Amino acid sequence: MTNVTMIAAVGDNGVIGDGVSMPWHLPEDLRYFKRTTMGHPMIMGRRTFDSMGALPGRRSIVITSQPAWWHAGAETAHSMAEALALAGPTDEVFVVGGGQIYRLAMPYAARLLITHVAQSPQGSVTFPKIDPGEWAPSNREDHEGFSRVTYVRRR
Ligand SMILES: NC(=O)c1ccc[n+]([C@@H]2O[C@H](COP(=O)([O-])OP(=O)(O)OC[C@H]3O[C@@H](n4cnc5c(N)ncnc54)[C@H](OP(=O)(O)O)[C@@H]3O)[C@@H](O)[C@H]2O)c1
Repeated sequence: MTNVTMIAAVGDNGVIGDGVSMPWHLPEDLRYFKRTTMGHPMIMGRRTFDSMGALPGRRSIVITSQPAWWHAGAETAHSMAEALALAGPTDEVFVVGGGQIYRLAMPYAARLLITHVAQSPQGSVTFPKIDPGEWAPSNREDHEGFSRVTYVRRR
């Protein structure tokens, strides 16, 4: 069975972006993102793909409502179910944003890898609420300016 993991960097106020880019520059977190997702398929929204492009070593499965959308280096899906079917049987698929796609994927996710950034930036795009009744923190690492928490779905 494919495990669906969501990975995100989230401000103290829930903000993850302004619709175009990320509100911070955290090189260590970008390196963490790269080593964590490397070799695994990634599912993302069309806007997030527009902001980061195709990344080497990982399939980019892009969800869009546009019937004819196509981009070199991307595979196109029109729903979360289609994106997961495209990912195929694999040990782990990463949902990498943005706000719309995290909401769409939340019911499918078994694990959340959240970098809690100690900032409250301006921005219209947020991560969905992590309901403590549904998600249990299983691991926490504190760093200067951010903490990394793994949440697992309570069964
Ligand atoms: N902090 C983080 O970890 C992180 C990670 C990723 C992204 N971000 C930020 O998040 C922001 C982008 O997020 P966003 O919410 O604006 O956009 P998004 O989730 O990346 O993409 C939204 C697009 O996905 C498609 N879509 C959404 N729901 C769909 C559905 N049910 N069926 C088919 N297609 C659907 C639509 O594409 P079409 O318009 O083509 O139909 C929609 O415009 C940026 O600021 C980015 O930097 C932050």
